[in-house]
Amino acid sequence: MRNSSLDVKPLAGGLGAEILGVDLRTDLPAEEWRTIDAAFAEHGVIFFREQDLTPEQHIAFAGHFGPINVNRFFTPVPGHPQIAEVRKEPHHRKNIGEVWHTDHSYDEIPALGSVLLAREVPEVGGDTMFANMYLAYETLSDGYKRMLEGLRAVHSSRHIFGPNAAYHGNDLKDRLANASLAVQDAVHPVVIAHPITGRKALYVNPNFTVGIEGWTAEESRALFDHLFRHAVRPEFTCRFRWRNGSIAIWDNRCTWHLAINDYHGHRRLMHRITIDGTRLH
Ligand code: SIN
Repeated sequence: MRNSSLDVKPLAGGLGAEILGVDLRTDLPAEEWRTIDAAFAEHGVIFFREQDLTPEQHIAFAGHFGPINVNRFFTPVPGHPQIAEVRKEPHHRKNIGEVWHTDHSYDEIPALGSVLLAREVPEVGGDTMFANMYLAYETLSDGYKRMLEGLRAVHSSRHIFGPNAAYHGNDLKDRLANASLAVQDAVHPVVIAHPITGRKALYVNPNFTVGIEGWTAEESRALFDHLFRHAVRPEFTCRFRWRNGSIAIWDNRCTWHLAINDYHGHRRLMHRITIDGTRLH
């Protein structure tokens, strides 16, 4: 039996860890998978360097975490519908994912997470930020937590990917499609218990959450103004600097992420696979 040389190095106090000493192109022994699974549960997002995976190896790695969810709106990688392109060319101004969000929260059964593989990144810029929604919840006062108890929030894909979404008027229209399929609305608890860890996490996000069930738009906005500002306190976040071949896998149930759009004039190409989750309670 091979000795595991795998090393888990936290990236920041709030969340995130790099896993060193592993080659994801090989068949990993069960012990290494256990270390990876435990790091994923503990740190919310984990990163690997120098993983030059083929699309098939990328799909196999993602498949360890659950069934693959085929994205409806992003351009697929030719020949691999399970892999979505997250791409910005030198002539583009807009990028994909520049507002804090949780992937697919508009689905009734939202995604577990995503595996993002860097194919071509600019020399400078294009980092991704992550925020820890356990900490965002746990650091609220007891009184505020009591107010959130039992609240449910409405999430939607319509305003982001639908026929009236802003992208039809900007250069994202080259990269997004299927506006007519953006008919998803879902209602989830504002605070969920994570299906694996059981820890409570805030489950609303600035991109897809459109209101609190039974509240007016103005009341919802006032709540979100506070929560969305609080949730990204610097000590709840980490920032990842990509190199070609870097991989991140994040847990959508307890994190947000945001792609920084600070590399105009340069190309950035990422391959993303999203993994099916379970109903949230
Ligand atoms: C995404 O929001 O899924 C993309 C993140 C990134 O490109 O860094």
